[in-house]
Amino acid sequence: MAIVLSGKELSEQLTQEQKQRVASLVKEGIHPGLAVILVGEDAASQIYVRNKGLACETIGIHSVTIRLDEGISQEDLEGKIQELNEDPKISGILVQLPLPKHLDEEAALSCILPQKDVDGFHIMNAGKLFTGQKAVTPCTPKGVMYMLKQAEIDLVGKEAVIIGRSNIVGKPAAMLLLNEHCTVTILHSRTKNLAEHTRRADVLIAAIGKAKFVTADMVKPGAVVVDVGINRVNGKVVGDVDYEEVEKVAGYITPVPGGVGKMTISMLMENTIEAACAQAR
Ligand code: GUN
Repeated sequence: MAIVLSGKELSEQLTQEQKQRVASLVKEGIHPGLAVILVGEDAASQIYVRNKGLACETIGIHSVTIRLDEGISQEDLEGKIQELNEDPKISGILVQLPLPKHLDEEAALSCILPQKDVDGFHIMNAGKLFTGQKAVTPCTPKGVMYMLKQAEIDLVGKEAVIIGRSNIVGKPAAMLLLNEHCTVTILHSRTKNLAEHTRRADVLIAAIGKAKFVTADMVKPGAVVVDVGINRVNGKVVGDVDYEEVEKVAGYITPVPGGVGKMTISMLMENTIEAACAQAR
């Protein structure tokens, strides 16, 4: 049976540390603030945005959620971002993705000041990560790396296989694993003989958004299996990994819920605190 990597426990520890850090920063006159922009009524996004606000409240970070109409124009969205760029109470800005189809996501993200880009999605931060410079790192892959580090999993020279090539998870995760000296493979919807690749993985990261996509026969015995998926099936949240079967084969596994999802929020809090400190300097 695999060792369970609990994001819930780790994130609870981080919450305690962050609470104390924010309290002492506030004493120094530094008050971290996060603005979350939600455009439209996407059900999953509403839940994520609410959880981000609740996390801020717990830790003592000032937070505002800006709900914008589904039909907002690009210009008005960018105007709102500009306002937040200039607001000294706001150290971090997050535009919840996906945006409605008529909006240009890349252009909107590029409007965020790179030092307020707590998601690490601005082209400047993405470019820095790509070239190995210090950058704001996207929250989900940052959380994955934190979990692997806390479990003292040796990554040097290991085969890391990522399923999914998104800008939010797959691509930045590849860069972070490369920085830790893994040999990295990214698989995607056009990959041929996918299971041949996954079976080579010492570290397997599933970030595709397909319920129970990764089955036991796709996993090398003893592998570290990280499940980034959040899928709703008959009202129940399940990951991209068939947990019940894969836990019998894997060496380590992250559960859903209570795994990577919790870490994503913790890392967002971390990025927001760091942004506030950097701006105060
Ligand atoms: N949509 C899904 N994941 C994320 C995330 O980490 N950040 C933002 N802004 N939107 C998302």
